[in-house]
Parts: sequence; structure tokens; C-alpha cells
Amino acid sequence: MKTEIIKIDYLCTGQSAIVVASEKIKSGGLVAFPTETVYGLGADALNAVACAKIFQAKNRPLADPLIVHIEDKQDLLRLSNEVYKITLDLVDAFWPGPLTLVLKKSQNIPLIVTAGLETVAVRMPDHPVALSLIKESQTPIAAPSANLFGRPSPTTAQHVYDDLNGRVDLILDAGKTSIGVESTILDLTQTPFRILRPGGVSLESLRTIVSDIEPYEGNKILSPGMFKSHYSPQAKLILIDGNGEVQVDRVRELAADFHLQGYQFGIMAKEENVEKYNDFKVKNLGAGENLTECAANLFSVLREFDREGVSVILAEGVKEEGVGVAIMDRLRRAQGIKRKYV
Ligand code: TXA
Ligand code: MG
Repeated sequence: MKTEIIKIDYLCTGQSAIVVASEKIKSGGLVAFPTETVYGLGADALNAVACAKIFQAKNRPLADPLIVHIEDKQDLLRLSNEVYKITLDLVDAFWPGPLTLVLKKSQNIPLIVTAGLETVAVRMPDHPVALSLIKESQTPIAAPSANLFGRPSPTTAQHVYDDLNGRVDLILDAGKTSIGVESTILDLTQTPFRILRPGGVSLESLRTIVSDIEPYEGNKILSPGMFKSHYSPQAKLILIDGNGEVQVDRVRELAADFHLQGYQFGIMAKEENVEKYNDFKVKNLGAGENLTECAANLFSVLREFDREGVSVILAEGVKEEGVGVAIMDRLRRAQGIKRKYV
């Protein structure tokens, strides 16, 4: 399969690319497209064969369910028969945006999408290209992140191409995604509601709408597909928690060790610390006080290190609040046991 890349502007003013892409979706093909979080690998969510191709293209286990993307709130009623007022309150407050809701599924959704579960994850992305594509395709679009299984999610079309060239029909390239980490997943089928994956929407902001929400528990596998090792660069990642001088000293200590042993390694540092590691290979994650910036850069920096062939990444941890909870979750998973990726 030849992978075509079409550039498209953020506001999606030239519709021709959307028409081409929607034809691919309608005929059961795969299209990678930008969302506000990360790029997604999309197929017609109501076409089981098309969705099967997603798993094949990513080498993704069939036990890992997909998120269904919609562009019209009304479509939620086609995907679930159990939509309550509280669901709609959340939808009104956060959609379009980086919040995925897990609901009881309706008969319309093929079981391959939900990995055999009776629940479905749904979200409305906040990106004109994604919304236009869904609308023009006249169907909900199932889309996981457009990376090979287990790799860091793609925040640029180039990242998608690096992983999926020859495995996807078309990539819509609208530049770098703004948020950079995936959506927050909130399970509405258990009481109290529970965060299954921290992401672009923080627990604090969810609690302004629904006060009783169980926070994310990173040490438990709550969601099928939330594997202990995930979002991983090829390099071995070592997370150095904490802040201030203690954190810098620890990073420098480890760096000196790896240097002595002759390793190719890199340091992912907060902006304020970058110059403290100038004698080593160092990349800037973003200012420690600006977690939004850090989230937007996270996966790009990890992939850059991979491209440059380092075998170890020393990663400074960030403050665990707001979107920092999602960043730290991804870094902890990136530390997980290495597997082989094809
Ligand atoms: O920001 C995002 O959510 C991106 C963009 C493309 O929308 N998508 C994304 O998809 O991150 P993916 O497949 O990489 O992660 C989706 C995760 C699955 O791994 C699974 O843990 C969870 O969503 N999920 C999907 N359906 C579920 C369900 N019915 N119950 C619980 N968890 C579910
Ligand atoms: Mg993913």
C-alpha cells in the first residue's frame, strides 16, 4: 500500500482533501488525521472489516478497544442507549475537547471496536480537520492514536509516517497537535465515575461539573489496553522524579555514570535546567511551570531521541497536577519493560 500525505490547513478551508479522505473512510480504508491531542488512525466505526485493519496496521492486540469519534452530540444517542443528564452536562462542558466518555454501548457498534466489551468510549475532538472528516464521511470514526502499538503517540504527520508508512492509505497533515497527550478517559458506567486514563482534561476541571469522581490510580490496570509498558521510545527511559537541585544532582550523577560506561544517552530536561546539562546531549521539554507546553513537546522529544539513536533517556519528572498527571503517567509507562516492536 502506498501512503499518501496531503497537507491541509488547520481551519480546513480547502475541502478537497476532506472529500478525498472521506471517500477512503467510506470505502473501508484507513486515514490518519489530526486531533487536538494526538494524530488518530481512523476507520468507519460501523464497519467491522475496516476497523480490523486498524489493529493490523498498528500491530495492536484485539483486546485493546478503540475510541469512537463523533462530530455531532446527537450521534451519542446512536452509540449508546444509556445517556443521562449528567452525561449531557459533561458533554456540554467539555465537548469538543480532550474528554472521552465510556458508556454502555448500543447494538450499532461492532464488537471489534469495543474489544468485546459492552461499553464504548466516545469523544468529540476539538479540531476542524477531524470534525470535517467525520461529517463528510457521514459515519462515526474509530481511531486509536496513529502509532505502532506501544510507541509514543504521534503529534505530527511525520511521526505517523515514521511508524505507519505503507500501512495506511492517507495521512492528513495539519501540523503539530496542540495538546500533545491523549484525551482523559472517564468511565460513566461505574459509580462513582472513575478516571481510567489521565489526559488533556484535569480531574479538578471535571469536578466542577461532577463532584464525585474517583481519581486515576496509576498502579492498577483499569482499562483494557492500559498496559504497564506503553508510550515507549526504543531507548530505555529512566524517570527522575522530584524537583530543584536534588533532581538536577541525581540526573547529573546518572549522566556521569552512563558517560563513563560509554552509553549513547540523552537528557530530557525542564527549560530552567537545560543549561545545567550542557556538557551532555540535552533536549528541552518546556518550562516546569508551563505544563501545557511540556505536554505538547513530550512525545516529540522522545521520538527525536529515538531518531538520533540514543539507547538511554534520562527524563526529568514534572509537577503532578493538571495535565502534569498525564505527563507523569506516560513517563512511568514509558519506563515499562521493553518489548520488540515490528
Ligand atoms: O486523545 C485520544 O484519545 C486519541 C485521539 C486519536 O483521539 N486516541 C487515543 O486512542 O489515545 P488509543 O486507542 O491510543 O487509546 C484508547 C484507549 C484504549 O487503550 C483503552 O484503554 C481505552 O481507550 N478504551 C477504549 N474503549 C474503552 C472501553 N470501552 N472501556 C474502557 N476503556 C476503553
Ligand atoms: Mg494509543
